[in-house]
Amino acid sequence: MAAVEAKSSAQIAMRGAGYYSAHTVGAKTVIDAATDLVLEAAAEIRLPDAATPFAVADYGCADGGTSIDLHRALIADIRRRETDRPVALYYTDLPGNDYSALFKRLQGMLPMDAIGFTNFARVYPFASGTTFYRQIVPSGTLSLGFSATAMHWTSAKPGQITGHVHSVGAKGEELAAFRAQSLKDWETILLHRAAELRPGGWLVMANFCIDEEGRYLGHTGGESMFDQYEKHWRGLHEAGAITRAEYDRATFQQHYRTPEECAAPFRDPDSAVSRAGLELKKVFTRVTACPYAQDFRRHGDAAAFAKAYIPTLRSWSESTFAGALDPARPADERAAIIDRFYDSYESAVAAAPQGHGMDYVHCFMQIRKRG
Ligand SMILES: C[S@@+](CC[C@H](N)C(=O)[O-])C[C@H]1O[C@@H](n2cnc3c(N)ncnc32)[C@H](O)[C@@H]1O
Repeated sequence: MAAVEAKSSAQIAMRGAGYYSAHTVGAKTVIDAATDLVLEAAAEIRLPDAATPFAVADYGCADGGTSIDLHRALIADIRRRETDRPVALYYTDLPGNDYSALFKRLQGMLPMDAIGFTNFARVYPFASGTTFYRQIVPSGTLSLGFSATAMHWTSAKPGQITGHVHSVGAKGEELAAFRAQSLKDWETILLHRAAELRPGGWLVMANFCIDEEGRYLGHTGGESMFDQYEKHWRGLHEAGAITRAEYDRATFQQHYRTPEECAAPFRDPDSAVSRAGLELKKVFTRVTACPYAQDFRRHGDAAAFAKAYIPTLRSWSESTFAGALDPARPADERAAIIDRFYDSYESAVAAAPQGHGMDYVHCFMQIRKRG
């Protein structure tokens, strides 16, 4: 079981060494948009005495670059009310995450962020390589939990998807299996967070979703990004560069819930989530425009657009495609195949850029634990 988990989590990793944050401007825009929800929730939190830390968790933090401004804003806000309040910040992600880049960033040792948290006193950052499908901090100790763009990764892959790479392209029983996995996972996530939160604590989340109009990541009109992935991956198979088994194995361990599905456990007073004390305060969807497509509309340089756009896709998808390749292939051969895959996508965008883009579609939620 542990080996299966470890193997599947290798297919979830973001690219390391700060690459993730350096190439995901849109993800930061999404987190910035959640700042008001976080500050509003923080203002409601009452701690029992002056020594109790205001404890914050960031679930699925990657290299920490996209959320650091949010955490700085939160700390500054806490400090405005309580100058001496200690703040404990728990950064959490999978065990294979690049914590080295995260630690350097927090200590102000990355060239693009030479401050980190070093300008705040009484801020104590920690990291835990524990999946959010388990309880991560001790019961009843967390003031505020935050997560962005992470909880669409399911705890297991319930199968492969025939003729596609993502559950958005699945049908029938294959789709039902991904949906069932994702709904079960959602309850697991919420129950662990309910245990971690102190009474009166809050959760703020911005999770990928399929919105009321059927839109999802990279599928808001124009070219559909996951269809493009499938097309270029299939192109490698048709050209003899990858085997049929490798083509079939490229299935993202992900599923996008609808806002209705996200809200359902809270709407039933008898659900395990409601009984655990969680109450939904706000839920809404939001589309965040692809910053690279927006830039292209301004500068009109197709090659420059393709060159800037593909790395943002690569930052989170590469591990899925690389993980589909036969491990018996030498590492440099696998690396060359993956480069060829993204090069083929980049050339297609450069040749016909219209309609490409990765708009983000999120379900924002603000949740309180009774107490
Ligand atoms: C797209 S990144 C988002 C990073 C950051 N939160 C943001 O919004 O920019 C998704 C992150 O979720 C992490 N992740 C995926 N499954 C996870 C799990 N089960 N437990 C903890 N982190 C997970 C990945 O490792 C990755 O770092």
